[in-house]
Amino acid sequence: MSILRAENVSYRYEKTENYVLEHVNAEFEKGKLYILTGKSGAGKSTFLSLLSGLDRVNEGRILYKDRDLSKMNLDRYRASEIGVIFQSYNLLKNCSAVENILLSERISRGKKGDRKQVYELLKRLGISEETAERKVMHISGGEQQRVCIARALSHSPEIVMADEPTGNLDEANSCEIMRIFRRLAHEEGRCVIVISHTEKMWSYGDEIYTIGGKKVKAPKGS
Ligand SMILES: Nc1ncnc2c1ncn2[C@@H]1O[C@H](COP(=O)(O)OP(=O)(O)OP(=O)(O)O)[C@@H](O)[C@H]1O
Ligand SMILES: [Mg+2]
Repeated sequence: MSILRAENVSYRYEKTENYVLEHVNAEFEKGKLYILTGKSGAGKSTFLSLLSGLDRVNEGRILYKDRDLSKMNLDRYRASEIGVIFQSYNLLKNCSAVENILLSERISRGKKGDRKQVYELLKRLGISEETAERKVMHISGGEQQRVCIARALSHSPEIVMADEPTGNLDEANSCEIMRIFRRLAHEEGRCVIVISHTEKMWSYGDEIYTIGGKKVKAPKGS
């Protein structure tokens, strides 16, 4: 059963004439890693912003556990049901990894996070306590991306979405990040949706949706 579903979704930005997405249908289940691909400008990030409740569809609907997103409190949806990883890391460079995650917990969810739990989470993603305490400006791009993943996971969401998470990384780091996403889907049973235009990364996905021609094409294998 799908946890997230786009039904006949169309979208155009305000004050523009052309639709970016037209009659898009897509279904996402828990335990699977989905790749969204397509040309630059095809509407991948736009689609992710609709799925993550940052923006509302013009036509059609997006259903989270069969509930229409347009009828839900989107702030709450974003803060508790999903975790989003943006391409630009959006980390405070002058703070440590741990502080970044604790701050995000406090701002997004009004919670005073537990430092020990954050260490644990970061450790699962291959970040040691020493690295976790270093200012973000002094850790590598691959490590920063892991910190972003940890931040997106800090409230244990069932759905994780990432926009080009490997865009700035070399191949070895990209593969490592994709393995992390696969683990989140296969071992932790989450629904993971990743935008990637890098063909080499597609093999990590269970299903691939190609966004283009204003429609989302059927996933591989169906
Ligand atoms: N705020 C906006 N207002 C108007 N048009 C926009 C806005 N944001 C994006 N667009 C347009 O919508 C289309 C889809 O953009 P989107 O960012 O979703 O593409 P994308 O597939 O993510 O591309 P890329 O691979 O380059 O990141 C593009 O033509 C873009 O110029
Ligand atoms: Mg994009």
